[in-house]
Amino acid sequence: MIDSHAHLNDPHYDQILSEVIIRAEQAGIEGIINVGYDIPSSYRAVELANEYEWMYAVIGIHPHYAEQVSEADIKELEQLAEQGKVVGIGETGLDYYYDNSPREQQKLVFCQHLELAKRLDLPVVVHSRDAAKDTLDILKEHAKNRCVLHCYSGSLETAEIYLDMGHYISFAGPITFKNANKIRRVAANIPLDRLFIETDCPYLAPVPKRGNPNEPAWVVYVAEKLAELHDITIDEIKTITMENTRRFFRIEMIEEMMVD
Ligand code: NI
Repeated sequence: MIDSHAHLNDPHYDQILSEVIIRAEQAGIEGIINVGYDIPSSYRAVELANEYEWMYAVIGIHPHYAEQVSEADIKELEQLAEQGKVVGIGETGLDYYYDNSPREQQKLVFCQHLELAKRLDLPVVVHSRDAAKDTLDILKEHAKNRCVLHCYSGSLETAEIYLDMGHYISFAGPITFKNANKIRRVAANIPLDRLFIETDCPYLAPVPKRGNPNEPAWVVYVAEKLAELHDITIDEIKTITMENTRRFFRIEMIEEMMVD
C-alpha cells in the first residue's frame, strides 16, 4: 500500500518521525510520497527520500504561498529536482476557499509549476479547492501535463473531464467523514485504474481517527472505504492504487536507477 500524498516533511513530525514510520511499516505501507508546500518543505521531502529507500519526493509551492513566489524560487525547484528521487512537481494549483494569495498570482504560479513539470518531464500534484472552473481552464491550456487531482472534492462531472484528459483522482480522509455522501458518490464512479489513496497527513485524519494529527498508517481507512464503495476487497484496492501510483510517478524507473 502506498500513501500517495503525505507531509512527513512537516515540522510536526520532527520529534515523532521514527514512531510514525514504525506504525506505517506495521500497517503495511510500502511507499510514501512526501509532497512539498514551500521551499524548505521541498528540501525536506528530498532529504527524507534520500534517507528512506521507500520514500519519494514531490517538490513545489502550495497556492497559499503563491504571493511570495519569485522566478528565483522556480529556478531553485528546478535545481532541486535534479537531486534524485524527485518524482513530481507540486503541490500546486488554486485555493479559492482560503484565498490566502491573490487569485491572479495563484494562477500565474500554477502555470509556472506546470511549465516546470513539462521541462523536467515530471507529473504534477494538483490542489484545487473551490476553484474548479479556473483549474480546468488552466489544465486545458496545459494539455501535455500529466496530473493527479489530490484530495478530490469536486463534482463527478468535473472529474469525468479530468479523466478524459488522462488525469488521476486521489481521495483522502474526507471520504470517511459522516456528511461526505457527495464525495463518496464521486469516488464510487472513478474507474479503478485512475484512483490513488492518500492521507494528506498531518491533516484530514479519517474516521475513526478524526480530530488527531493524521499519519500514513491511517491511509488504510481510506482504502477500506474505497474498497467498500467499489465492492472489491481491501487487498485489491491496496494493490490497484499502489500500481496506479507507481506507474504515474514512474517509481519503477527510479528503483532501477538506484540498483545501478
Ligand atoms: Ni497536501
